[in-house]
Amino acid sequence: MSVTVRVPAKVNVQLAVGAARPDGFHDLANVFLAVGLYDEVTATAADELRVTCEGPGSDQVPLDRTNLAARAAELLAARYGIAPDVHLHIAKDIPVAGGMAGGSADGAAALVACDALWGTKASRGELLDICAELGSDVPFSLVGGAALGTGRGEKLQPLEVGGTFHWVFAVADGGLSTPAVYREFDRLTPDAPAPEASPALLEALRTGDTEALAATVTNDLQPAALSLFPSLADTLAAGTAAGALAALVSGSGPTTAFLTADAASAHKVADALTSSGTCRTARLATAPAQGAQTV
Ligand code: C5P
Repeated sequence: MSVTVRVPAKVNVQLAVGAARPDGFHDLANVFLAVGLYDEVTATAADELRVTCEGPGSDQVPLDRTNLAARAAELLAARYGIAPDVHLHIAKDIPVAGGMAGGSADGAAALVACDALWGTKASRGELLDICAELGSDVPFSLVGGAALGTGRGEKLQPLEVGGTFHWVFAVADGGLSTPAVYREFDRLTPDAPAPEASPALLEALRTGDTEALAATVTNDLQPAALSLFPSLADTLAAGTAAGALAALVSGSGPTTAFLTADAASAHKVADALTSSGTCRTARLATAPAQGAQTV
């Protein structure tokens, strides 16, 4: 028997970052928006825990116990006193190490898939607790849609979204380490104020107003990502020149995100980014997308 779960990528439409906490994490006001680029994780009964991966960038995905999908299976099994004997196969489409929560998505998907395969029937609250233990972005991968994440990003408040947004994502050549980007943020921002969600941005999401959203998107990690990966400035400029209403680094990068007026404009921006030579590939996606779902 097998269970397959489909799980979306995310973009942060606001990522407000405070000072480093004693535990090394940063307090955030993190407005997550799930976007329609998906990984699929298939859980199949096996003699031992095993992870395999296919798709773009899959050679960079760790297949050992550091993979969040494997850790999700171990945490769920430990909670129910069973052996985590499962083969987890990841069909990757979310850019790897790109700042779009691909690894977190696989953790959330594996958790839902193992829960169904093993019949453990964990409550939503238990699943969210395990997600928070796996990583700051994992609870959002489970719920999808749009949400405000506070604390280190794991405390979620669902947000209403009143329309469909058309995005283009430019996948960079290479990756960025999230801890390294946060360290660079600390170096560049010695006195970061307490993070706060922007009321204007939440209102733009609620009303589905693309222009208002474009005017309010921000990412406090962007200067740090640009400092470590300076050529991203050329990618942002290429998308803006092609008519994107907003251009920003996605999360800790190096994927860059472009908000466009409609599907036609998104195609134009994607074509311009592809031919600009400033990125590896450009992907179209609409938002919001549903969270982890069994298929
Ligand atoms: O929670 P997660 O394991 O995904 O975080 C990866 C790294 O990102 C952390 O080890 C930390 O360096 C950084 N981080 C942070 N503050 C957050 C979330 C992540 O400093 N709120």
